Amino acid sequence: MNNDKVTEFLGQFVSDLAATDAAGSVVVGHRLGLYRALAQGPATPEQFAERTGCHPRYLTEWLRGQAAGGYVTYTPATGEFSLTEEQAFCLADPNGPNVPAAFLISLGMLRAEPRITEAFRTGAGIAWHEHHEDVFVGCDAFYRPGYVADLVPNWIPALDGVHAKLTAGGKVADVGCGLGSSSVLIAQAYPRATVVGSDYHAESIELATKRAAEAGVGDRVTFEVATAQTFTGTGYDLVAMFDCLHDMGDPVGAARQVREALAPDGTWLLVEPFTADSVEDSLNTIGRAYYSASTFLCVPNALAQPGGHALGAQAGEAAIRRVTEEAGFTQFRRAAQTPFNLVYEVRL
Ligand SMILES: C[S@@+](CC[C@H](N)C(=O)[O-])C[C@H]1O[C@@H](n2cnc3c(N)ncnc32)[C@H](O)[C@@H]1O
Repeated sequence: MNNDKVTEFLGQFVSDLAATDAAGSVVVGHRLGLYRALAQGPATPEQFAERTGCHPRYLTEWLRGQAAGGYVTYTPATGEFSLTEEQAFCLADPNGPNVPAAFLISLGMLRAEPRITEAFRTGAGIAWHEHHEDVFVGCDAFYRPGYVADLVPNWIPALDGVHAKLTAGGKVADVGCGLGSSSVLIAQAYPRATVVGSDYHAESIELATKRAAEAGVGDRVTFEVATAQTFTGTGYDLVAMFDCLHDMGDPVGAARQVREALAPDGTWLLVEPFTADSVEDSLNTIGRAYYSASTFLCVPNALAQPGGHALGAQAGEAAIRRVTEEAGFTQFRRAAQTPFNLVYEVRL
């Protein structure tokens, strides 16, 4: 045994353990608005207690733990805690990356650990709707900033002719839409287009309908509870799927439904998690996050559905392309990418 390698491994373990233990505190900070409150300016724990109405002893421990992890800044000379501009942007800005929402997903999915452990023995599936609601809400809150940054400015313009069609009008289906942030963004960007969002999860569709109405686009964005294999409508200029094809037990059935639903020259926008094609090239921090979430969310959901597939969040471009080809699509192209997503244009 090489002791240096043991030391190196334990070093990684300590940082993993600290991050895992700190995840709950990030969610507490998010739920109680502590990051937003600290973004207002530096405070000692006592001042912070007055500002937030929370208990000073809890806040002291929370602030120190956050500072130890670099999520909060501590100034020993004054005993004050604060957020730098960058920390505030990532943790407290409604237009920022909403980092705490990612931990909401993690804590939400980890609640299912006993059932997941049992499922390893039995092979049983655990469907998306069986998880804690933090998973759905966290997913929407964490993914939305990425869609704001890229969907309208970069992804749609990267598709051949779609921007022009939607500017003139056009019909869009947003399949597996979850809480519908993507549907609303498309409707806001293209005031002449109509959007039909669908998801098999009724509670998500209920929230999506409410949010579209609040955003003032309820007249052009409608939602239905339907699976990707049964969603309704035909003649769509664009069918979009954001981060959901790999979750499905029957992705080929979904792809066939997209083929039926598209207008003859329509486009399927398929957004999937970033990954390399080979396992060895995915063995990095992003791959670790995706494989781990996939173990708790994507694979169990696919195994809970008929179809026999369980692509997982790191399926890779080749596997996704095969699904589209099996359903009869002939054109497949990587149109864009970000550190988190691969964006495919699929056509007949
Ligand atoms: C990771 S979430 C993504 C949600 C949304 N597209 C987004 O980007 O925020 C995966 C979604 O796929 C939905 N889903 C899973 N299997 C489905 C199926 N067979 N048909 C339709 N929706 C499905 C889930 O209910 C969930 O809303």
